[in-house]
Parts: sequence; C-alpha cells; structure tokens
Amino acid sequence: MRSSEAGLARNVLRCRFVVVGSGIAGLWTARRLSEYGDVTIITKSQLCESNTEYAQGGIAVALLPADSPELHKQDTLAAGAGLCDVPAVEMLTREGPDAVLDLISIGARFDSRDGNLLAGREAAHQRSRVIHARGDATGAEVERAASEAVLNSPNVRVLENTFVTDLILIHGKCVGVEAIDFVSGESIRVLAGSTMMAAGGAGNLYRVTTNPPVTIGDAMTVAWRAGAALQDLEFVQFHPTALAAPGYPKFLISEAVRGEGAILRNTSGEAFMQRYSPAQLDLAPRDEVSRAVLSEMQSDNSDHVWLDLSPIGDASAVEARFPGIMAELRKRELWNDETFCIPVTPAAHYCMGGIRSDVNGQTSLPGFYACGEAASCGVHGANRLASNSLLDGLVFGGRSARGMIGAPDLTDAEVTSAATIAGRDLPAADPDLRDQLRDLMWDHVGILRDAEGLAAGAEELARMRAGFEHPSHAKPEEIQTAMMVQAAQLIATAAQLRCESRGGHFRTDYPEASDEWRKHIILHSTHDGEIAATYAPVLE
Ligand code: SIN
Repeated sequence: MRSSEAGLARNVLRCRFVVVGSGIAGLWTARRLSEYGDVTIITKSQLCESNTEYAQGGIAVALLPADSPELHKQDTLAAGAGLCDVPAVEMLTREGPDAVLDLISIGARFDSRDGNLLAGREAAHQRSRVIHARGDATGAEVERAASEAVLNSPNVRVLENTFVTDLILIHGKCVGVEAIDFVSGESIRVLAGSTMMAAGGAGNLYRVTTNPPVTIGDAMTVAWRAGAALQDLEFVQFHPTALAAPGYPKFLISEAVRGEGAILRNTSGEAFMQRYSPAQLDLAPRDEVSRAVLSEMQSDNSDHVWLDLSPIGDASAVEARFPGIMAELRKRELWNDETFCIPVTPAAHYCMGGIRSDVNGQTSLPGFYACGEAASCGVHGANRLASNSLLDGLVFGGRSARGMIGAPDLTDAEVTSAATIAGRDLPAADPDLRDQLRDLMWDHVGILRDAEGLAAGAEELARMRAGFEHPSHAKPEEIQTAMMVQAAQLIATAAQLRCESRGGHFRTDYPEASDEWRKHIILHSTHDGEIAATYAPVLE
C-alpha cells in the first residue's frame, strides 16, 4: 500500500498512473511511466496473455540499409486506402527505428546473421523490412523483454485476472477505473491521475479468429459508456491464412510464410491469386487476399483453401525459418511431407478502429488515454500494413507515456470524491449468447457486407441488448458478454453507415471506394445510451 492509500477503503487503490492491458502498447507505456511515478497494470488474464504474445511475422521497421522511413510511409499509406492520417504515419515510420533499438537495448533478441538483423517480406511492402525473433516467435520475444523490464521496476503493481468495467469520471474527467477481480468476484477501484486504455481489439466477437480469448471489444465498450469518441470501427482486418482445423481460436499461419514464397491454391490445385491480383499475387493486401480465399472456398463449397509451402524449400528449410508453425502442424498431424500443403481459412485478426486518440494517446476525455489496437489515432487507415501493429504499440506507447507524465496527478478532493462516488449496476447477459453473437458477426458484419445483412445483424443485436439485465451482483462473465454485445453493436452501426468499400470494410452493395466517404466515422453515446455519429476529415 502506498502512503496516499491510507484512509481509503480496502478495495480502493491509488496510484499516479493506471494502464489497462498488457500487450506491447500497455507494457511499453508502463515501462516509461514507471520512471516517473507508480503504475498499476490491470490485465484480464495473465500478464503475457495478449495479442502481442501470438504475433508471428514480426515488426515492420525501416532499419536495413536498402530501406527508408519514406518507403515505409508510402507502403503504410497505400495499405490504408486513403484513410490514414498522414502525420501519424510519418511519426510511426520515422520514430520506429529508435523505438525498436530501444526495445533491443532492454534485451529483446531478433534474428540476425553476422551481426546484421535479418528481415522478411510481407504483403504490400516494397522492401524486406519485417524483423523477427526465433523465426516466427516475435511476439513472444517482444512480450518477454517488455514484461521483464516492467516487472523489474519497483514502481509497478500488476493486477492479473482483473477486468475493467467502467471509467470513473468526475466532472467529465477520468480519475481511474472500476474493475472486477475474476477470481474473487470482488470489485476494485483504482484511482489515478492518468488512465491508459490498451486492452486490445475485438477478434473474439467473430466465429473465426486468430486472437486469444481476451480480445472481446471491452476497451471500446468501456470508453463508449464513459462518453469517449470512437473512430473507424467498421474496419476489421481478416487475415487470409489461419489454420483451417477444429478449435477456437484458430492458429495463425504468418503472412511471412507467403513472404518466403508459399502459394495459395484452391481445392483443384490452381494458384488462384493470379486471377484476383495478377501484379501482387499472394502478397496483395490482406483484405484482397481474404476476399479471394473466401470466394474460392464458396465456389468449391469447401471450408478451406490450401497453402503450398513447397516453394520455400525442403522440410528442413521450412522448419528452420518457421519452427513454431512447423511444431504446431506436426503436433496436429497436419504436416504432409509429400504435398507440403496445409488447409487455411480467413479469420478476424485486427481492429483498425478503436478509441479516437491523437498521436500522444489523448482521447476526447481529459485524463483518459488510449493506444495500441484499442486506439484509433488514424495511423492504420482502412487497412493496417502487415507487421505494423507491434511498431504502433512501441511508438505510440512511448508518445502516450510522455503525454501522461505531463498531466497533473489527482488532487486530494478528487481522490475523496472518486473513492466515494456510487458505482453503476452493470448490464449483464447470459454467456450462452456468445456463440450466437459470433455467428451473427461472422455472417453479417464479416468479410463481405451488405445493407440487408447488416440490418438483420443490427436488429438481432438490438434484441440481445434489450434482454440485458442489471442485477446488483452480476457474474464477471455475464458482464463481459453484455460488453461484447455492445461492442458488436458499435461495429455493426459503423459498418451500416459507411456506404462504400475501402480496405477492411467491403460492401457488396457499394463495391467501390467513394471520395465522399474519405472521412473518419466517429461514434459516441447520447444521453440516453444510444449511438450517435459525426464525421472528421482525414489529416493530410
Ligand atoms: C502475421 O504474421 O501474418 C501477422 C502479423 C500482423 O498481423 O501484422
């Protein structure tokens, strides 16, 4: 207990900074903050359970001699399909190299030869610039190095198995969070001068996803309920190559595999990307490849297409470059030494949209910051360039920490009010609803969308929401289910509003991009808890 917690109730903690989420964005922010004050990290599961942990391909960064931040910027803007805020992209690509060198300086080890970093190629990159660790275990290495750095700081307290249900607001300013301890079911209040939301995306709102179970859209729901603005939620990235094998979530087959030469084939053996993207073939942007894969699966009435790894080399070459993937394939008895072909399917992978923030993490609410996948500072536009997400966490995590350090701590009067303010009864929904929700999102708010399907999805979501209960002591899982429904409703609303196709949002009834829609869609809550929309220009 810190001295300023004396006099507060047992379940009220006080700190200078609170960080929600423990992927790279949260850990990197916390690491910086801990040099300036005490930090509480709140995470839904264990410290290392995050999307970061499972990232395979690597970190896109202009560190190699033939590359430059300018080329990286060009590729990021092209992938973002006209919706990237250019200043954010310039910061990402220009500040990325130093951020990665900083990560290396604290002990992250990337693959190298003769002292030179090795870099792979991924879709829509003009250069080989994706650095990696232990072949395909980049995220695990990044998470290890960052969590060790954070845990070594005496200024950091970690609350695992704890999930945030609400922001605490005093006169419109965020002064901390309400949370629930998953194990004891008890509520906790963490008061802080600045609050960072870095709790990741929403892959688990979909029937098929590459994300671990912790990505349930809670960051957007918590922010929305507090009145924060959300941006570009309609843009959901579907990764074209998740392993098509039973189980939830799906194991990712990194895009780096296609970067090394692997080719997609339909069930007749045809290398079909030639028909969809003759110039970029299997390394076309993810949204194009996912739609092509889906179309082949539909016309072949199959639940997968094949990914042919034979162009990479013999089995030992594949094993050397992708040891984690090969181990998983062998474990599942899905590796065939004759064909080198594995079954793959598209899967929900990443949310480009999130809590609207500036490049220093500041959201529309004073005292409340966001970064990483939970945030939308405009850097990814309508479609994130492959392997830009870990870099996003590093660059904007560092920038957000600087913003939070400069913000004032709570006054004694704010602490007293925040400790005694009444909490709300939270909406709760039956956990059994989750499968229905995931089917609905996959079928109606998925890779291909249209007005009719979106309307049917929205109607069903409204019906689910109307069934919410407000018991005084709901179970944590029931609260989370209600949060998932709310997040799904926000994504579906944004998808209904955007009457065009761009990046990760494809409307079969509006198959082209339109200049009129070259703008951000911003959602916020009305006084009676409904969803209202405004628009903001793309920053040049
Ligand atoms: C992958 O390795 O294909 C995923 C990397 C990313 O999501 O950028």
